[in-house]
Amino acid sequence: MQKQELKAGIVGSGFAARFHYEALQRVYSARVEIVGAYSSTREKLLQFAGPRGINAFANLDELIGAVDIVHVCTPPVTHEPIVVAALQQHKGVIVEKPFTGYFGDGSSGFNGDLFPREEGLEQALQSVGRMLEAEKGSRGRIMYAENWVYAPAIQKERELLQKTGAQILWMHGEESHSGSHSSAYGQWKLSGGGSMMGKGCHPLTAAIYLKHVEGRARDGQPIRPQTVSARTHAITRGKNFQNRGHIRTGYKDIEDFALLHVVFSDGTIADLFASELVMGGVHNWIEVNTTNHRSVCNIHPNNAMQAYTPDEDYFKEVYVVEKTETKQGWSFMSPDEAWFAGYQHEMDAFYRNAVYADHIESNSSLAADVIATIYAGYLSAERKGAEVEIAVL
Ligand SMILES: NC(=O)c1ccc[n+]([C@@H]2O[C@H](COP(=O)([O-])OP(=O)(O)OC[C@H]3O[C@@H](n4cnc5c(N)ncnc54)[C@H](O)[C@@H]3O)[C@@H](O)[C@H]2O)c1
Repeated sequence: MQKQELKAGIVGSGFAARFHYEALQRVYSARVEIVGAYSSTREKLLQFAGPRGINAFANLDELIGAVDIVHVCTPPVTHEPIVVAALQQHKGVIVEKPFTGYFGDGSSGFNGDLFPREEGLEQALQSVGRMLEAEKGSRGRIMYAENWVYAPAIQKERELLQKTGAQILWMHGEESHSGSHSSAYGQWKLSGGGSMMGKGCHPLTAAIYLKHVEGRARDGQPIRPQTVSARTHAITRGKNFQNRGHIRTGYKDIEDFALLHVVFSDGTIADLFASELVMGGVHNWIEVNTTNHRSVCNIHPNNAMQAYTPDEDYFKEVYVVEKTETKQGWSFMSPDEAWFAGYQHEMDAFYRNAVYADHIESNSSLAADVIATIYAGYLSAERKGAEVEIAVL
């Protein structure tokens, strides 16, 4: 049987656009033709599209018109209008994390440190609501590109939950590294928040996803997050921070540390950290403690391969692992980082979903739960950790 062919278009030409392009080379559930890309920075777009032999579209509408699936690889502030435009034309849309958020009141003086968090929560929920409405009226569907959901370690945990009927009692996890490379990151009006939003969304989505899986496996209904208590800090902007130049600084109005304590509707809990303060490569993991097993899911680093060199010059042409400060000494060299991170698995699953119209593991209702939790978390942090109810969308 011939595989169905689907046409893909990428919006954006930065880091995420590159790994979406790479992951699309490893999709086997459909034949994918990457038609082209569109990005607001023409020069970067040409640098991205040219060597890959794909079209550089002049505008978003042209790209949407020419494809079946739109990949949204742009800063969070742009997600909602691009997703809605794609859905209005009945296209499938794969949207990068975080789904959407609150990006200020549009005024030049907007300061992410100072706005009332209740307003941010309200506006973020409205943005999610508009995207869910657009999906309802569309033949296209939202596929939320949270790679943690599709990372092999998390999918193995899904299997454990489904086959053992376990109840998750407590999860703890983290996404941290020494700071995002994206220039949009660090300004609330573009990123919609700091560590809790940009990094915390990863382990938080995994935790919520696993409780959804547990609930569906046992009772046919996802178990949802009910309340959150959170703290945020801006350590590198503090007056006592001593900069040694090894971690990124210069954030304008976002936090660089976040801690979330989530209580689910069955009274079980998750504790999640996110920060820009951690050296030694990306630190992404979640531990799952259940009534019949305990798992440690390592996304980064993992010890599939460890390599040592006395002088990093030997490795100057070698990609070792994401965001390591040095290649000297022992490294957790990743033999296939994208595989462990789940990038190819998520793309393959999304294209299978598009062909067979079957259940999307990382769908818009999971994305909605994550944003509702994060912005309730910002409100809690404003109240110095007081418990806040999470809205059901
Ligand atoms: N899942 C992951 O592991 C992961 C990793 C990195 C980034 N991301 C996500 O991917 C998204 C993009 O991040 P990035 O690191 O690629 O950022 P980036 O700064 O490297 O690239 C952003 C791109 O978007 C383009 N752009 C900006 N506004 C646009 C608009 N209105 N229309 C069209 N193009 C526009 C820019 O020209 C640029 O090419 C963010 O949502 C980020 O959170 C996910």
